[in-house]
Amino acid sequence: MSKTTAAITAVGAYVPEFVLTNKILETMVDTNDEWITSRTGIKERRILKDSDKGTSFLAINAAKDLIDKANLDPTEIDLVILATATPDLPVAATGVYVASEIGATNAFAYDLQAACSGFLYGMSTAAAYIESGKYKKILLIGADKMSSIIDYSDRTTCIIFGDGGGAVLFEPNEEGLGMQDEILRSDGRGREFLKISAGGSILPATAKTIADKQHFVYQDGKTVFKFAVTNMADVSAKIMERNNLKNEDVDWLVPHQANRRIIDATANRMGIKDSKVLMNIQRYGNTTSATLPLLLSDFEKQLKKGDNIIFASFGGGFTWGSAYLKWAYNS
Ligand code: UT7
Repeated sequence: MSKTTAAITAVGAYVPEFVLTNKILETMVDTNDEWITSRTGIKERRILKDSDKGTSFLAINAAKDLIDKANLDPTEIDLVILATATPDLPVAATGVYVASEIGATNAFAYDLQAACSGFLYGMSTAAAYIESGKYKKILLIGADKMSSIIDYSDRTTCIIFGDGGGAVLFEPNEEGLGMQDEILRSDGRGREFLKISAGGSILPATAKTIADKQHFVYQDGKTVFKFAVTNMADVSAKIMERNNLKNEDVDWLVPHQANRRIIDATANRMGIKDSKVLMNIQRYGNTTSATLPLLLSDFEKQLKKGDNIIFASFGGGFTWGSAYLKWAYNS
């Protein structure tokens, strides 16, 4: 009997309409298009302007896009996993609300928080459930309203992040397609370098934490950059090696979109040429949990059944990893 593998069988995405360009940022903080482009590769990002809408709005729209495209009956979904670092509410998992709103009435749901690696970790969870035979249809969504936690007077972070959501459906496959391997890592010493200090159980919100701007993302960019370059490249090279993949065997690299220079360093280390590296950082910036599914959605038409894809991510925590997946369909 052939082993059941976990394949991605459908993709959906949503980004809000408002485009925050580098030119607009020049009017908000002391920065310029040349600096942002050369240091990060970002030209613009999408922002969810409506103050009454949260991450669930992005996730619901991404899921609906998938449901419409795949003609999926949402009552058949067994599990909804929402990877996010920006839940609608600190308590009451956003994924639960999303599942109800999309009509996934027979599913259970929860949130997964691993910063920029949330979606990659979620791929591992979804795949394990499918491979075990326990569930048949798992909707994995990555969505973040990063604009809700960014200080738009801080030039070191406000130029980087954007809002967006993406979704994939995992289903069993009997042809050996889908998830093949993964290397997932974390190192809690990293939390000093990329974090929101207040609003959690260590430092609950007070008038002082608000005045001190401790509810916004703080990042020691240089340190995070150094760890990201080394670790993302290491696991990506390692997953190729242990699956006997030469660079010509890899069809696509799907890397977290944090900084173009980190992506280039990872691709170089793997010996992968630019034409195989999926990139949309120039249009969306860093959307945290949404970068990987947004790439799959943007480039879906180019992905062919049987293609070897390496996913890679690095994020706050620190969390990082790499996954090897064989694409399962032509669209
Ligand atoms: O997805 C989660 C993981 N996150 C990451 O992977 C992010 C990793 N880090 C980075 O991508 C980069 O470190 C940044 C893009 C955040 C910053 O780039 P950098 O090349 O590391 O710049 P830097 O922080 O070393 O700053 C260089 C200079 C500084 O000026 P001085 O001290 O040399 O005079 C900064 O003050 O650039 C200045 N600077 C800016 N200048 C114009 C910092 N931000 C800006 C800005 N515009 N927005």
